[in-house]
Amino acid sequence: MVVRIEPSILSADFTAFAAEIRRIPSADLVHCDVMDNHFVPNLTFGLPMVQRLAEVSALPLDVHLMIDDPDRWAPGYAEAGAHTVTFHAEAAHDPIATARAIRKAGARAGIGLKPGTDAQPYLDAIDEFDQVLVMTVEPGFGGQSFMTDLMAKVREVRAAIGDRDVWLQVDGGIAGDTIATAAEAGADTFVAGSAVFGQLDPDAAVEHLRRLAEA
Ligand code: DX5
Ligand code: ZN
Repeated sequence: MVVRIEPSILSADFTAFAAEIRRIPSADLVHCDVMDNHFVPNLTFGLPMVQRLAEVSALPLDVHLMIDDPDRWAPGYAEAGAHTVTFHAEAAHDPIATARAIRKAGARAGIGLKPGTDAQPYLDAIDEFDQVLVMTVEPGFGGQSFMTDLMAKVREVRAAIGDRDVWLQVDGGIAGDTIATAAEAGADTFVAGSAVFGQLDPDAAVEHLRRLAEA
């Protein structure tokens, strides 16, 4: 299985994102956590930052929208140059229409599921999505503990994906002691914040995580 490692710049230096991205050349994508202080109790950055990062980053951007009303805002992130735009099922009024609008604007469309959200309604429409994000912490903050209980949901999503080109992403608490568990359950796309940017050599951390996921 192809393994993708996505460092989250939530754990990077907020005054130096361009330089931080240059420290992780082995990564597959850069994970950008957009938070609005409404959908989650934390605030990060928005469209102007993502537009500028798309211009300066040598790596493709995966934008994780933790915001209310993604139906309105998500296509703009695709137009800004994001490779993938993932919005939350719990926040969307019409997830299928929003996914279609993201694709029409030129990006891959992802659907994100909080730990308590049932995957099945979205798996019934799996062909509308290019990525399913199974959150392995409650969204909002880096550095939280991986929730092993969510592996049942990862297995359920993997079974529904079958041989489709739909990426199965996990986000939250992914580190050296958890990534193999998520890979074994069927995840192929791994977000890691503190386990990459909390290390002295973040690119070595990316390669270390990749080896553990591939094992
Ligand atoms: C949390 C964010 C994550 C966060 C993960 O809501 O969606 O992307 O950066 O951080 P770690 O890897 O430290 O759990
Ligand atoms: Zn995220």
